[in-house]
Amino acid sequence: KILILDFGSQFTQLIARRVRELNIYCEIHPFNHYPEIDSTVKGIILSGSPYSVRQEDAPHFEFEKFHTTRPILGVCYGAQYVAHFHGGEVLPSSTREYGRANLEYIKKENPLFKDVPGGSQVWMSHGDTIATIGDNFEVIASTDSVKVAAYQVTGTQTYGIQFHPEVTHSIDGKQLLQNFLVDICGCKQDWTPDSFIETTVAALREKLGDDKVVLGLSGGVDSSVAAVLLHHAIGKNLHCIFVDNGLLRKDEFEQVLDSYQHMGLNIKGIDAKQRFYDALAGLTDPEKKRKAIGRVFIEVFDDAAHEVQDVKWLGQGTIYPDVIESVSVKGPSATIKSHHNVGGLPDFMKLKVVEPLNTLFKDEVRKVGKALGIDPNILGRHPFPGPGLAIRILGDITPEKVAILQEADAIYINNLRAAGVYDKVWQAGAIFLPVQSVGVMGDERTYENVICLRAVESVDGMTADWCHLPYDLLAKISNEIINNVKGINRVVYDISSKPPATIEWE
Ligand code: XMP
Repeated sequence: KILILDFGSQFTQLIARRVRELNIYCEIHPFNHYPEIDSTVKGIILSGSPYSVRQEDAPHFEFEKFHTTRPILGVCYGAQYVAHFHGGEVLPSSTREYGRANLEYIKKENPLFKDVPGGSQVWMSHGDTIATIGDNFEVIASTDSVKVAAYQVTGTQTYGIQFHPEVTHSIDGKQLLQNFLVDICGCKQDWTPDSFIETTVAALREKLGDDKVVLGLSGGVDSSVAAVLLHHAIGKNLHCIFVDNGLLRKDEFEQVLDSYQHMGLNIKGIDAKQRFYDALAGLTDPEKKRKAIGRVFIEVFDDAAHEVQDVKWLGQGTIYPDVIESVSVKGPSATIKSHHNVGGLPDFMKLKVVEPLNTLFKDEVRKVGKALGIDPNILGRHPFPGPGLAIRILGDITPEKVAILQEADAIYINNLRAAGVYDKVWQAGAIFLPVQSVGVMGDERTYENVICLRAVESVDGMTADWCHLPYDLLAKISNEIINNVKGINRVVYDISSKPPATIEWE
């Protein structure tokens, strides 16, 4: 594997994604807090950083300890750090170096630049520049304005590059990474969904033996893939629990339960609708609604988990971005996560935790799911919030409002599917607004509620833009909703981006 030491750059996760796209396993760790470097670590990549090496509190690390033992690639800050503290000098650049540049000089024979053509476009993003380098450093690439765009420490396998090979604007960045990882570090490109499944299932079997595991399924991608992996490892000793909180999409509980049963999972469906509706009655504040739902879910799940005799483990679909320890720009060591106090927790939360997906990024989870043969309908599903329709009904929740929203939402989503746009939209859903407006139907005046349609494009939900759905499609959906859903006489479309709006309305 490859170790990526993080100095707090916004691009660190992208480096990891690129390495893995080359079918090579890698892990990200903070520069000051990493596991023992043993023989399985074939090479080290040093990330960029918001710090400058000239700052007094610039992050330091134990370069001397490993620079003779295995290949190192310093990217941006990583390159500047090694140069600055080994006989060279880093200075503020006279012109800030951001954006596209071309490698006008490349030392052709250097293995790092195998199959990288002269003039190759790279992406720069730094305020400092390497002004001079130590005697034992050799420049191996330059741009018009940056002489030391890349260097090698002579006689070692330590390399530094000023540009970012991980961004797509660096046209040959992937080739360069492959040269480093395969030719210089000697990594094999054998980390694939199939090899992941094989080693993970074997490791789970070894770890769990004859122990029983409980796992809560949500119908989403992560918990489904985690369940199927565990099922391959321990079969019937995996006890899945799927709770109907009465806030899912129309018919979703039945459909998802059915497809889980077809996959052979040992699953128990629990109808807890009334418990959730009772807890939500009269609540209008979004955070109070979320808390009530979270509390009831824990109670229901705990009851169900108690019905499994001698259970030892809690399975979870946690994925890699949730466990990467972040390096904070202010005070890196202060960010190590604190542990929960286990006193007062429900029993299932005291179980040992098993998280088969905690080394995977979201797109890798989907690939593993596909290799496991999981229903494409589950793998391609839009994200859906834990509190479900409760945060898409503004104000208080009643079963009647839920039923109205489910009907409208089903018409919306079915039309997106039929028009072939469902997979192009990142997330879509209908929202029930607590306002009534006047309409006419035939000769009659109506006074009914409004449904808002929301559809967004996004990569990770952190920022989003509204989708420019075709007018004809919106017209068809609006028509169908107003003509078929009793209680709705008006449909509107949300054209707000995030920020400043959020994706959900509550
Ligand atoms: P916002 O509304 O914050 O949503 O732009 C970003 C993403 O997070 C989802 N979301 C939630 N997911 N529990 C969840 O599990 C929640 O309370 C929650 N609130 C928002 C939302 O659906 C979107 O994908």
